[in-house]
Amino acid sequence: MFNPSPYHEPGFGAWKQRLETLPLSKILIREADQAAQDGRWMRWMQADCESTYIQSVEDNVAKIGQQLVLLAEIANYPVGVCCVLAGRTNSDPLFIQLVAVVPFARRRGVGLALLRAVAGWQPHRSIAMATLDDNVAARRLNERFAQSIGGNIQRVPVSRFRRSDLGFAPGERHRPWVIDRQQEADTAVLR
Ligand SMILES: CC(C)(COP(=O)(O)OP(=O)(O)OC[C@H]1O[C@@H](n2cnc3c(N)ncnc32)[C@H](O)[C@@H]1OP(=O)(O)O)[C@@H](O)C(=O)NCCC(=O)NCCS
Repeated sequence: MFNPSPYHEPGFGAWKQRLETLPLSKILIREADQAAQDGRWMRWMQADCESTYIQSVEDNVAKIGQQLVLLAEIANYPVGVCCVLAGRTNSDPLFIQLVAVVPFARRRGVGLALLRAVAGWQPHRSIAMATLDDNVAARRLNERFAQSIGGNIQRVPVSRFRRSDLGFAPGERHRPWVIDRQQEADTAVLR
């Protein structure tokens, strides 16, 4: 049977201990490999971060095959993850379904580095994400991100996108936002 608790898995404790002594070295962003090791890193980060669901290694590996999954590393240790779904048509946005950074690596720019890497992936698309109203860290991060790419972040009605595209389930009270880049792209073409 699937064990929902990763806390006693071999290696989890050592990874947590290593995080506590992380050097202040450069943040590396890379695409996750569709392999068990990266599925396991994702699972452990999900376990270490609030506001995230802990998934099985297999489900994480399947996600890596279906979406863009970026991992942030410091000194070869994964400390952050971002899951992104590209909308079905070219004019649909990129949906940032999850951005999470382990507590020991926060406020070092990891979250912002992950989002900026997403922005560079498909620059013609606008970017959508959803937050809970009381998630101050996520809301401030999104504002900083929008500012850093010269975009304007705005609330949009909940009905604008499918909940599943935004990565939340029915009953969750996340509210969507959009950083509109489509308009900028259209203007650039007209110039
Ligand atoms: C939200 C989260 C991803 C931020 O990650 P992070 O790596 O700490 O963010 P950064 O260091 O890149 O912060 C960039 C900016 O965001 C803002 N910010 C980040 N965390 C903040 C906090 N706790 N309070 C206020 N502002 C915050 C700041 O403006 C910050 O810039 P500054 O440090 O120069 O002031 C992290 O807190 C987290 O994983 N939270 C749990 C999971 C979650 O809620 N994810 C979002 C919903 S999917």
